[in-house]
Amino acid sequence: MLKIQPEPYKIKTVEPLSRLPLDERKAALLRAGHNTFLLRSREVYIDLLTDSGTNAMSQEQWSALMRGDEAYAGAESFYRFVEAVQEVYGFPHVVPTHQGRGAENILSKSLIRPGDVVPGNMYFTTTRLHQELAGGSFADVIIPEAHDPSSELPFKGNVDLAKLAAVVKKFGASKIPYVAVGAPVNMAGGQPVSMENIRLVSAFCREKGIRVVLDAARAVENAYFIQEREKGYAGKSVKAILLEMCSHFDACAMSAKKDAYANIGGFLAMRDQGLYEQAQNLCVVYEGLHTYGGLAGRDLEALAQGIRESVEKDDWIAHRVSQVRYLWKALDETGIPLMRPCGGHAVFVDAKEFLPHLSQENLPAQALAAAIYEDSGTRSMERGIVSAGRDAATGEDHKPALELVRLALPRRVYTQSHLDYVAEGLGETWRRRARIPGLQFSYEPKYLRFFQARFKPVASKCPSAAFS
Ligand code: F0G
Repeated sequence: MLKIQPEPYKIKTVEPLSRLPLDERKAALLRAGHNTFLLRSREVYIDLLTDSGTNAMSQEQWSALMRGDEAYAGAESFYRFVEAVQEVYGFPHVVPTHQGRGAENILSKSLIRPGDVVPGNMYFTTTRLHQELAGGSFADVIIPEAHDPSSELPFKGNVDLAKLAAVVKKFGASKIPYVAVGAPVNMAGGQPVSMENIRLVSAFCREKGIRVVLDAARAVENAYFIQEREKGYAGKSVKAILLEMCSHFDACAMSAKKDAYANIGGFLAMRDQGLYEQAQNLCVVYEGLHTYGGLAGRDLEALAQGIRESVEKDDWIAHRVSQVRYLWKALDETGIPLMRPCGGHAVFVDAKEFLPHLSQENLPAQALAAAIYEDSGTRSMERGIVSAGRDAATGEDHKPALELVRLALPRRVYTQSHLDYVAEGLGETWRRRARIPGLQFSYEPKYLRFFQARFKPVASKCPSAAFS
């Protein structure tokens, strides 16, 4: 049997790429305040900032755009979108939103009352903020291994049931509007959650009368990991596994800019008629009418097609994960410290190990993301103390155990030689690691600071450090 697993597509339209020379990349980094979010895309060569909304659509998605029904109310495109969500995710009611955080806003405002606590398997930036803005707080109930980059557990995103039970006991079920399960867990390196764990969490919550809500942004990847790793699932399709996963949840919040190969979109889907009515009503306040949710009819068409495509055959998702693994392996062979095991959407570099001369206050992951850009024009994202933000009650920095740089792969966009280039570029950064300076904030916005903060280099204790 042949070992190479080539892309299950060929290229029809091309977008030219060019790489700025080193001095211009250095100037761009300074202008951007060492924040990769503030670079212009023309300054970036290989863009691994995110896999969100950066996907290449298929010819069927592009064709579907022409069918877009742009009626303000009751567009046919809306009904086609709802049918696709019902078929693939299995929830009867669907409220469209402009993207995932639109769904998070509506969900949080519908269910959370001041003083409530929302347990979840590790925070996600926008999700936690919406919980806090609604008056709630987040309680982390992920298994402890998820905070350890070297642990090789196959389902490192699992909920720790004892921790969950302790949170419910401490606050009481009436203070817990729902349990939020991300599958896989973005901030933990894309680690999946097992079907067994989902089943147990769901049974526990049902017994306590607490809702369970899935963050479904990359649930197709999670279903693929279950097929690959969990006993009894090897013979099942990703489509069937995804439906089974969803059957254990009361609702899901979805950023459809990921698995669904779209460039924009999201939804909130649920079984409960009461929550549906509430969510539809808040949709008109924050997103637009409940039959378009901030999206054009043509976006809804691209989503309907993309949602079906994401599970129509297992090759798509198998190839996606194999691309991420290819990059992971190349970096691992160079000796670069990585979050283990490899996740489904991105490779996460362990910045604490990469830059041991920097303390967490020197923002090692932010410094490393800036250095990676400088060396090769590759754009990545900080996922450490900057992303973790401040405690809403005390104003102190959250200090996460994980200090990671994420290299996320857009779907169907880059080829193997792009990934070889990225690996070679990180090899350069690895060789000069002892001279990479730390950073400090020069501007810090109030919400989701990682998006818009600016930084400047700090004088390092490391004598060989060179500052630009
Ligand atoms: N949940 C998860 C797990 C996510 O990864 C994201 C976005 C959201 C919710 C919010 O969705 O961006 O459509 O509003 N993640 C992007 C990323 C931004 O780069 O990981 P959104």
